[in-house]
Amino acid sequence: MPETIAEFPISPVVKKFADATRIAANTNAGSNAKIADRDTPLIQNCWYILDWAGDVEHALKNRMILGHDLVYFRTQSGAVTALQNRCAHRCFPLHRSVLHNNDTIQCNYHGLTYNSEGSCVKIPSAPNKDPSSIKIQHYPVVERSPFLWVWPGDPDKADADQIPDYDWVNDDAWGYGDGYYHLDGNYLAIHENLMDITHFQFLHGAVLGTPNFAEAKIDVTEDGNTVDNYRINLGEPLPGLHSEATGLGKTVVNRQAHSAFVTPGFHEAVTLMNDPAGTQGGRNDYHAHILHLITPESQYTTHYWWIFARDFNPTVKKWDKFYSDSTRAVFTEDADAIDWMEQQWAKEDRAGFREANVLADKGAVAMRRIVQRMADAEQAGG
Ligand code: FES
Ligand SMILES: [Fe+2]
Repeated sequence: MPETIAEFPISPVVKKFADATRIAANTNAGSNAKIADRDTPLIQNCWYILDWAGDVEHALKNRMILGHDLVYFRTQSGAVTALQNRCAHRCFPLHRSVLHNNDTIQCNYHGLTYNSEGSCVKIPSAPNKDPSSIKIQHYPVVERSPFLWVWPGDPDKADADQIPDYDWVNDDAWGYGDGYYHLDGNYLAIHENLMDITHFQFLHGAVLGTPNFAEAKIDVTEDGNTVDNYRINLGEPLPGLHSEATGLGKTVVNRQAHSAFVTPGFHEAVTLMNDPAGTQGGRNDYHAHILHLITPESQYTTHYWWIFARDFNPTVKKWDKFYSDSTRAVFTEDADAIDWMEQQWAKEDRAGFREANVLADKGAVAMRRIVQRMADAEQAGG
């Protein structure tokens, strides 16, 4: 590392998850271990984003996550409840049913009625029978503004302390743009895309890339079940995405970036753009902090939310819109790439095909080894 540039520390969130998973992760590590791919079973015991908290009211919504079809709504008490979207009687989809003011859902087929915990409270055709033995699955949900998190796996293992801490986004020191898209591809393709940002200058051009961006040395640190990629680019102007919003224009800066796999549902990226000359009133440091929230919908389709936060001009709303619009355009290029690659897998069955790995894949391969380990443990009942 050059002596002129100070090390840019990893986020405390990544550190916390590394600490929490270090012992378990080290028990069966091995360099020859198999790595996860698009067919590896999804990791159920993990927190994933269900929705924007502000988009859920006292009305039935429906979303598939990790192969579970959910119906969910905000109860009169303000908490959000998520239930199996399938009546226990004849599988009628409950999001096409009636939500009553007392937070019960009445199935629109034969009227079986469920409370917000998923227990049946009424069978219209058998009014004298105790309905409580009929139940639908109830999923743990936690609200952390601006998101709702859901746990699709074993509810006894759901620990809200394992939800990443991003409370700082609600602070005035940060402004952000955000977005969501649905993706035709396995969720690991998004994690891989984020672990190897040498694609910036090729897939995204001058909006995100700079001429020498892909050549930066990458330090990969694997710790517990986390993997961090750390890179430094010295002496280039910022790409189009940041040049105007920072006000730095063509000023030559140094860029340092961490991009970390934290959990199967969460990737965190933090960038420091350093202007050693302090051309704007002596200010040297400008940060972008991006939350990538990845929820498999099914084995080969994915929900993806993001928050693109900045500590420059944080309260100027036009930059919120700018970052929402421009990151949507950039991430659509990623989504197209992943969709096209998925189509290649689907349309040509080339026996014995193995992906070639290059140096920049070190972090992504480590991530895939960790996910395989998690999947193996989960399939073994761990
Ligand atoms: S299918 Fe729901 S009550 Fe019959
Ligand atoms: Fe990208």
